[in-house]
Amino acid sequence: MSKIHAAITAVHGYVPDYILTNQELETMVDTNDEWITTRTGIKERRILKGEGLGTSDLAVPAVEALLKKRGIGADELDLIIFCTTTPDRVFPATANILADKIGAKNAWGYDLQAACSGFLFGLATGSQFIESGKHKKVLVIGGDKMSSITNYEDRATCIIFGDGCGAVLLEPNDEGNGIIDSILRSDGSGVPYLHQKAGGSVRPATHETVDAREHFAYQEGQAVFKFAVTKMADVAAEVMERNGLVAEDIAWLVPHQANKRIIDATASRTGVTADKVIINIEKYGNTTNGTIPLCLWEWEDKFKKGDNLILAAFGGGFTWGSIYLKWAY
Ligand code: UT7
Repeated sequence: MSKIHAAITAVHGYVPDYILTNQELETMVDTNDEWITTRTGIKERRILKGEGLGTSDLAVPAVEALLKKRGIGADELDLIIFCTTTPDRVFPATANILADKIGAKNAWGYDLQAACSGFLFGLATGSQFIESGKHKKVLVIGGDKMSSITNYEDRATCIIFGDGCGAVLLEPNDEGNGIIDSILRSDGSGVPYLHQKAGGSVRPATHETVDAREHFAYQEGQAVFKFAVTKMADVAAEVMERNGLVAEDIAWLVPHQANKRIIDATASRTGVTADKVIINIEKYGNTTNGTIPLCLWEWEDKFKKGDNLILAAFGGGFTWGSIYLKWAY
C-alpha cells in the first residue's frame, strides 16, 4: 500500500477592504514611500476596521469560501488548527470561536503560536493527524489582525504589518502528492529582539503598561533581519538538499513575506529564479501567519498537480522552518 500523505485539497484567503498606503503612513509617522519601498518592498497593507472584530472575523470569510469551493460542510471538519499571534482573546482558543461561527460542530481545535512561522508549524502538525489515519479533514488557518498589536507611533514597525488570513484543507492523498518533508526550528534566545512586552503572565496589563505602549509588537529590526536572512535561506536550501532537489526541480518558492530583501536572499541561496518566487508583499505587507496561505490562495490557479513547492518562514521566537510539498490538484 502506498504511503498516505497529507495534501492541500483547497485553499482560500481573505483580506479586509481598507487599504493603508505608504502615503497615508507618511501623514502618521516620519517616513516616506521611497524608504518603505526600498527597505521592505511594501506599498500598502490591509487593515480590519470596525469595533469588536478580531482575527476570527478574518478567518470566517476565508473558511466559508474554502468549504464552498471544496463542496463540503463545516460539520465534516475533524480538526481546526488556528495559527495566530493575535488571537481573539487570551483564552479561549480562536479555533473554538471560529468553529462556533462557522458551525463546525464535530471538530476539535486549538491555537498554535509560532509567530511568523506559525502556518508552517501548523501544516506540519496537522499533517500528522492525516498521515496517522486519525483524521480525514484538517483545517489549517494562518491569520492575524496585526493592526491590533501595531504601534502606529513607531515608524520602525508600523510600516511593516498588515491584517489578513488564509486557510487550507488537508486530506489524505495516496498518489504521492502532499506534504513530503518539513524542517522546523526554534530558539528562545531570540525573544529580546522581537516580542510583545506586556499582556502575558510575566507582565499583565496595568495602567502603566498601557501608558508605556507595551501592548504592541516590539522589534529590533536589524538584529531580526540578520537572523532571518540566513536562517530562512539555509533551511529552504536544507530541505531541498535532503530531498535531492535542485533549483530546476522547484515549480514555486513560497516565502514568508516579511521583507523583499529577505525573500530575494532566500531565492538566491536556493537558486530558484525570480519567475518562480511568489511575492505579494507590496499589497499586504507582513500579515504574520497569513503570508504563506495568502500566497497559496493568490497563486492557486497557476499551480499544477505534482508541482514541487518549497515553503519557508522565519519569525519571532525565534522560529523558522521550511516545508517541501507536492501540489495535489
Ligand atoms: O516577520 C517576522 C520577522 N521580521 C522580519 O523578518 C523583519 C526583519 N527586519 C527588517 O525587515 C528590517 O530590519 C526593517 C524593515 C524593520 C528595517 O530596515 P533596516 O534597513 O534594518 O533599517 P534600520 O532599522 O537599520 O534603520 C535605518 C535607518 C535608521 O536611521 P539612522 O539611525 O540611520 O539615522 C532608522 O531610524 O532608517 C530609519 N528608519 C526609518 N526611516 C524612514 C527606521 N524606520 C524608518 C521609516 N521611515 N519607517
